[in-house]
Amino acid sequence: MLISENLNINEKGHLTIGGCDAVELANHYGTPLYVMDENFIRNALREYKKSIDENYENGGMVAYASKACCFKEIHRIVMQEGCGIDVVSGGELYTAMQVGFPAERIYFHGNNKTESELRMALEYNVGRIVVDNLTELYLLSEISTSLGKKASIYLRITPGIEAHTHDFVKTGQIDSKFGITLENGDAIKAAKIAANLDGISLKGLHCHIGSQIFDEQPFILAAEVMLGFMEQVRRETGITLTELNLGGGFGIRYTNDDCPKEYSEYMRLVSGALKKKAAELNLPVPFIVIEPGRSIVAPAGITLYTVGNVKDIPGIRSYVSIDGGMPDNPRYALYKSRYTALIANKANQPANCKYTIAGRCCESGDLIQEDAMLQQCQRGDIMAVLATGAYNYSMSSNYNRLPRPAIVMVNNGKSRVVVKAETYEDLLRNDI
Ligand code: LLP
Repeated sequence: MLISENLNINEKGHLTIGGCDAVELANHYGTPLYVMDENFIRNALREYKKSIDENYENGGMVAYASKACCFKEIHRIVMQEGCGIDVVSGGELYTAMQVGFPAERIYFHGNNKTESELRMALEYNVGRIVVDNLTELYLLSEISTSLGKKASIYLRITPGIEAHTHDFVKTGQIDSKFGITLENGDAIKAAKIAANLDGISLKGLHCHIGSQIFDEQPFILAAEVMLGFMEQVRRETGITLTELNLGGGFGIRYTNDDCPKEYSEYMRLVSGALKKKAAELNLPVPFIVIEPGRSIVAPAGITLYTVGNVKDIPGIRSYVSIDGGMPDNPRYALYKSRYTALIANKANQPANCKYTIAGRCCESGDLIQEDAMLQQCQRGDIMAVLATGAYNYSMSSNYNRLPRPAIVMVNNGKSRVVVKAETYEDLLRNDI
C-alpha cells in the first residue's frame, strides 16, 4: 500500500496523485518536479480546525508553520481555509503579506529576529510576535515605543521536554538555542519584565517541543507544564494569561514503518489533559494555538525525477542516479531521513531490487536514500519520492548551480504551475 490515501495506481500501472497521472505530469512539465495535492492540504487544515473547534470551547487557531513550505499559493489556501500562519523571517512574512494574508492571524517567530524584521512586523500589525529572549524583548519595546505602538507578544518558553525524534529537530529540551528556560527561573523573570515594559502587551505563552513526534505524551506533558507556568505567572504578577501556543511537531508517515495518530486523536488527548490541569489550577482554558507544518504539507507532496545512469557494483551496491538530489531534497544528507520511493511508470510491478538513490551533485553524500527497494530501474524511468511536501522546497538550494524545480499543484485530476521552475537567467539575477 502507498503511504498516503491521495496516492494511487491507475490502470496503466502509473502512480497517481490527486487524480493526475504522475508520468504524464513528468512528461508535460519536465523533471525534477515538485507536485502538491491541494485537496490534501485543504483537508488537513480542515481536520485540524475541526478538532480545535470540537475540543476547545474558548476557541483556538491553527497556524500553518510556513517554514515547512512557503510560497504564495499555499498562503492563499491557508488564508481561504480561515487558518493562521507561523512565519520565522521577514521573507516568510513578506510572502504572506503579498497575498493579503490577514495580519492578525500571523505569528512571528525566530530566535534572532533582526531589528528590521521586528519593525516590519510592527508596521504590518502582525497578530502576535513570539519573543524568544530578553534581548529581543527590550529591542521590541524600544521599537514599538518609538513607533507609538504596543506589540502583542507571547514569550517562547523552553519547558524542558525531550521529544523522541532526530536530535537536530529537538527544540524543547533545556539545551536549546530557542526560548527562555523555565527550570532556572529565567521564564518567570521574563514574564515579570514583559508585564511592565512600555510598548509591550503580554498576551500569552508559546512552546514547541520538536518535530516528527508520534507519541502524545510529550505534547501532554508540555501542555501541563505550560499551564503550571501560567499559574505561576498569575500568582507572581497578578496577570491571567489567556492564550497558549503549543507549537507543531505532529509526525507523519514517510514509510510504512511510521504509524502516526489521527490529528483529532492528539487534540482529544492533549485537550483532555489540558482542561483537567486548568480545572485543578483554577485557570480558564486558554485560547489554544497549534502550528502544524509537516503534517499539513509533507504527505501532500511528491517529487518526480528522471532516472539516468544505473550503476551496479557487484557485491557492493547498485546506484540509480536521478536528475535532482540534495539541492531539491537535502533531508537525507542532513538527517538520514527515510523516504519511500518508487518508479512511477512501473508502480504496479514488484519493488524487489535494492538501490541507493543518488543525486546529480558532485558530492558522494548527495543521496536521497540508501538501500531502497524499488522496481527494476532503467534510464528514462520516472522516479517518485513520496511525502516530500515539507522541508524540501523550503530547504532547497542552488548547489552546483542547479535551478530549483517548478511546483505543480494538482486538484481532482487538474494541474497548474504555482511556482515556476528557475531558469539559468534566474540564477544570474543578482550577479554583478
Ligand atoms: N512551530 C515552531 C516554533 C517550529 O519551530 C516548528 C518547526 C513548527 C512549529 C512546525 O513543526 P512541524 O509541525 O512541521 O513538525 N527541517 C526539519 C524540521 C525542522 C522543524 C523546525 N521547527 C526537517 O526537515 O525535518
